[in-house]
Amino acid sequence: MIKKPMKSTLLLTACLSLLMASSAFAADGKELYNTKGCAGCHGADAKTPVAPLYPKIAGQSKEYIEQQIKDIKSGARSNGQSAAMKAVLVSVTDDEITALADYLSGL
Ligand code: HEC
Repeated sequence: MIKKPMKSTLLLTACLSLLMASSAFAADGKELYNTKGCAGCHGADAKTPVAPLYPKIAGQSKEYIEQQIKDIKSGARSNGQSAAMKAVLVSVTDDEITALADYLSGL
């Protein structure tokens, strides 16, 4: 009699911890945008940059944003201003760049 409810409790616990683990590992673009310092240059809404030479980045296509960030990180894109951003990208992984691009393209 006691065995059955215990089993389902175990199963429920297993499912819940799986759910929690997957949401903890999935990179959240919005959170990354704020924690990685992007907002400090491009603005909280990604369209009010702090300097005239800093670009508005909200609403570009995901593929474009992703490619530009990767190019700035690798140095393939090195305009006069991109050095300002490059340093920040040392701590941003490819998966995080994808999540950021996903978030920014949807703004
Ligand atoms: C220190 C300021 C600074 C920080 C921090 C910064 N950026 Fe930038 N970002 C720039 C500048 C300046 C450029 C323009 C580079 C150029 O002139 O080529 C740029 C360019 C870009 C572009 C390309 C825009 C386009 O239209 O081609 C994207 C996308 C971008 N940044 C996203 C981000 C994201 C995401 C982060 C956070 C991980 C971030 N930036 C952090 C300053 C910054």
